[in-house]
Amino acid sequence: MERTLVIIKPDALQRGLAGVIISRLEQRGLRIAALRMFHIDEALAARHYAEHVEKPFYRTLVDFITSSPVIAAVVEGPDAVEVVRATMGATDPRKAAPGTIRGDFGLYITQNLIHGSDSRESAAREIKLFFEDSEICRYSRDLDRWLFEDSQA
Ligand code: RTP
Ligand code: MG
Repeated sequence: MERTLVIIKPDALQRGLAGVIISRLEQRGLRIAALRMFHIDEALAARHYAEHVEKPFYRTLVDFITSSPVIAAVVEGPDAVEVVRATMGATDPRKAAPGTIRGDFGLYITQNLIHGSDSRESAAREIKLFFEDSEICRYSRDLDRWLFEDSQA
C-alpha cells in the first residue's frame, strides 16, 4: 500500500469539477485517507514548489495555486503515486490522453486541474507539508477486499 498527495487545484474548484475529480480517484479504487479544503498561502506554495523556484513559470505557478481555495488529499492504494499520475494524465492537458482527468477537462498547462506527487519521496515530503499525521485516517472499507488484492479487510 502506498500513499500520495493530491491537490485539486483552484481552476477545478472554480469550475465545479472537484466532485468529478474525486470520483475519478474513488472509481479507480483508490482510498481517501485525508481531505482538507483551504487557501494555500505564499509560504506553503514556496515550500511545495521549491524544486521549481528557478523555472521561468515559477511565479505564474505560485500566483495560480494561491489564487483561490484548493482541496488537498492523501490518497492510498497499490502503487498510488504512479496510478494517480496515470489517472491525471500528462502535465500539459493538450498532450494528455483522453480518458485522463487533464485530457478530458483541461486546455492549459497552468490550469491543469490536479497535482499528484511524482515519486514516493515527494509524496512523503508533500504529505507532511499539508497534513498532520493525526489528520490521516487509518481505516479499511468493506469493499477493499474486492479492490486491494493483498487486503485482509
Ligand atoms: P504537478 O506537480 O502539478 O502534479 O504537475 P507535474 O508534476 O506534471 O508538473 P511539474 O513539472 O511538477 O510542474 C508543476 C506545475 O507547473 C506548471 N508548469 N508550467 N509553463 C510551463 O512550461 C509549465 N511547466 C509546468 C504546471 O501547472 C505543472 O502542473
Ligand atoms: Mg510535479
